[in-house]
Amino acid sequence: MEFSIKQQGNPEKLRSGCILVGVWEGGKLTDSAQLLDKAATHYISDIIKRGDMTGKAASTVLLHNVPNLACERVLLLGLGKRTELDAKQYRDCMRAAMKALNASHAKDAILFMDDTPVKGHDTAWCINQAVFAASESIYRFDRMKSKPEKDKKVLLRMQFGLLRDKPSAALNSAVTHAAAIAQGIALAKDLGNLPGNICTPTYLAQQAVALGKAHKSIKTTVLEEKDMQKLGMGSLLSVSRGSAEPAKLITMEYHGADKKQKPIVLVGKGVTFDSGGISLKPGAEMDEMKYDMCGAASVLGTLQAIAEMGLKLNVVGIIPSTENLPSGTATKPGDIVTSMSGQTIEILNTDAEGRLILCDALTYAAKFEPDTVIDIATLTGACVIALGHVASGLFSNQDKLAHELLAAGEQMQDRAWHMPLWEDYQSLLDSNFADMQNIGGRAGGSITAACFLARFTKEYRWAHLDIAGTAWKSGKDKGATGRPVPLLTQYLINRAADGK
Ligand code: BES
Ligand code: MN
Ligand code: ZN
Repeated sequence: MEFSIKQQGNPEKLRSGCILVGVWEGGKLTDSAQLLDKAATHYISDIIKRGDMTGKAASTVLLHNVPNLACERVLLLGLGKRTELDAKQYRDCMRAAMKALNASHAKDAILFMDDTPVKGHDTAWCINQAVFAASESIYRFDRMKSKPEKDKKVLLRMQFGLLRDKPSAALNSAVTHAAAIAQGIALAKDLGNLPGNICTPTYLAQQAVALGKAHKSIKTTVLEEKDMQKLGMGSLLSVSRGSAEPAKLITMEYHGADKKQKPIVLVGKGVTFDSGGISLKPGAEMDEMKYDMCGAASVLGTLQAIAEMGLKLNVVGIIPSTENLPSGTATKPGDIVTSMSGQTIEILNTDAEGRLILCDALTYAAKFEPDTVIDIATLTGACVIALGHVASGLFSNQDKLAHELLAAGEQMQDRAWHMPLWEDYQSLLDSNFADMQNIGGRAGGSITAACFLARFTKEYRWAHLDIAGTAWKSGKDKGATGRPVPLLTQYLINRAADGK
């Protein structure tokens, strides 16, 4: 979908598939709605008098052929109480508006932005949320259907109208940034939704190479199992042993700033299918373990977004990718392996494989002399129990970094929650036979998983995002969410704005 922004002082004269205007609870019209109403000789206020639109938040009424207007349709959008229009309410309203727009056959729409103030947020933020809601509403994953729905008319263009001023440079770039992030989200969703027999480690590597081809600023390299062997990645390779698909270690280097500037490294868990291995998972909902590469997908989506924006920052994406399957060659409970760091690991449960591939990727990350390293992983079911499907789990060895990531998540409504990484938990990983074991028991499962990773990240500033509960939805609306691409891109935008 194409997005643009323009000063539009006379909404009544606009030729458009649909003009979207707001109505406050109690029936008061926003400025843009008032202008339409005046031109249409009170057509809109009559509807409100009749009670068909009360202004209740997220309610909609679609009007056709409104007299004296040049547009085909008008969509009235209830905004709720003016004093209560906060981030959540605005998002709910935008979602409802996009749903109604998509149910119509309008191909283009205009949405007025400067007459609906949202508490604590500026117009750029509103544009962001509107772009995300619009992109989300047209997202379909139908490439695996033999006959994709053809007759679906979708919204092609959305313009943001400003009643008063010409768009500032900041608002213009808000639109292009938001569109780039929306595309990054869509890429992450597509990769997540693809089945495991298509989205293999090799496929992810091909996608990364394609991203490098599409953007001059990205250089992709792929390490094969023999390369990883040479580097001593015994922990990562212990996971791919049971699978016929070869593991890949994918690196994407984005250069947007001076070569001397230290990069921010993003490490994404890329398990393209997690059966649990010899510690086999129960059958119910096992299909959802195709989503175990959503951390990797968010790294690809984020890199695509920042390359599209030309963000002035250096960023490296690292993706350790493998399947986790049982077979005669698979790693067994009790096996002991040596990680790239030299530390030995007793594998008591082959289903705790994410940390086994991440620890070697995190050791490898040090080679880039990082400013900061952030790993993103669908790491533990325990995190879903702790935080549900609302917040991602956030762990860090530096509080300042944790707060910056929390703030970025808050800004984008892609929130995380700060979890402890205290030494007190470390002893749960003590092993009788090796330097550590790969599980810490049921209690505090997402914390002990993070504590395991912390043993490999002592040399740099590091954060870990456990996205097991937020990367996809189950049930009737099963599908990837594209999270935490919004959080990650916003963090990087903030870092670039600080000049690092
Ligand atoms: N990929 C899973 C985590 C997961 C499970 C994410 C369910 C989302 C939903 C991970 O590899 C895993 O299996 N973790 C185990 C760890 C345990 C064996 C210590 C888990 O959470 O059960
Ligand atoms: Mn697992
Ligand atoms: Zn897993």
